[in-house]
Amino acid sequence: MTAPTPAIEVAGLTKAYGDTTVLDGVDLTVPEGTVYALLGPNGAGKTTIVNILSTLLTPGDGEIRVAGFDVRREPAGVRAAIGVTGQFSAIDELLTGRENLRLMADLAHLDRATTTDAVQAMLERFELLDAADRRAQTYSGGMKRRLDLAMTLIVRPRLIFLDEPTTGLDPRSRRELWAIVRELVADGVTVLLTTQYLDEADHLADKIGVLDGGRLVAEGTSAELKRRVPGGHVSVQFTDPARLAVAAATYLDATADHDALTLQVPSDGTVAGLRRVLDGLDDDGVAGLTVETADLDDVFLALTGHAAEAPVSEAEEIPA
Ligand SMILES: Nc1ncnc2c1ncn2[C@@H]1O[C@H](COP(=O)(O)OP(=O)(O)OP(=O)(O)O)[C@@H](O)[C@H]1O
Ligand SMILES: [Mg+2]
Repeated sequence: MTAPTPAIEVAGLTKAYGDTTVLDGVDLTVPEGTVYALLGPNGAGKTTIVNILSTLLTPGDGEIRVAGFDVRREPAGVRAAIGVTGQFSAIDELLTGRENLRLMADLAHLDRATTTDAVQAMLERFELLDAADRRAQTYSGGMKRRLDLAMTLIVRPRLIFLDEPTTGLDPRSRRELWAIVRELVADGVTVLLTTQYLDEADHLADKIGVLDGGRLVAEGTSAELKRRVPGGHVSVQFTDPARLAVAAATYLDATADHDALTLQVPSDGTVAGLRRVLDGLDDDGVAGLTVETADLDDVFLALTGHAAEAPVSEAEEIPA
């Protein structure tokens, strides 16, 4: 049996604007029915990759196949197979939510009955029924994001690109969107998403590509990436400064915070490692302790030499 064609195959992708290289040889493969997260700070090249894969932008060099079609030679095939939710909204603000959805269905040549049913289903699923007949310009940022996604999904694409789908959403809306992505994948849909949120990649992705300065600096599952970084530690809270000082003198690789009365002792997260830390502690001097394993923030810092950007606020991110 031959392996099924991957949903996305990219080899040696480059892109430059004049003398400025924006993508510097990107390779990635996304098997069908999986979620791939492109994680990277502002300007890393995430949107550029999405735009090239969705045929909105011409690549420089490289072999790029999407849904089995070559993006340069068979762009119509690619377009018929995909749905795209861009970083910035595709909504027509002067139309109602219902009208925006109907427009997308019409563009995809759905027949009338199918369109009516599909529009209704999307309004229900994305909790937009009450607002369906109001102009989209009256929607909140979260409602617009949901409408945007509904407009992508109404034609039931098998492969979906989501460019920063949850930037600017409140925690509840983010979790709802994550649930929707999981449902889609359970149905066999392939998702390539971009995000600046490390926890989003952690929650959703089968595979994460860390993009920095137009290069994939690391790729793997969340667990694989975390294993590459020994960022775990035990954080010990002391009852008084003297006890902290004694412990700090014992654990030479630890970092003391004298104001907070805490000591961070590096630990690999294993039971044996934890026991070594605990054995050196005196019962009465300790007010509490927490075990912290490496998170994707640590991974990002270790791989790129700089921290991931803090997410921007909703006001800046959602265009009016
Ligand atoms: N039309 C253009 N002309 C010149 N440079 C461009 C153009 N479009 C994008 N760039 C540059 O390409 C780089 C990558 O941009 P891109 O939009 O792909 O980043 P991103 O990872 O999506 O960032 P963000 O998180 O801010 O959305 C940036 O340095 C950007 O300035
Ligand atoms: Mg972008």
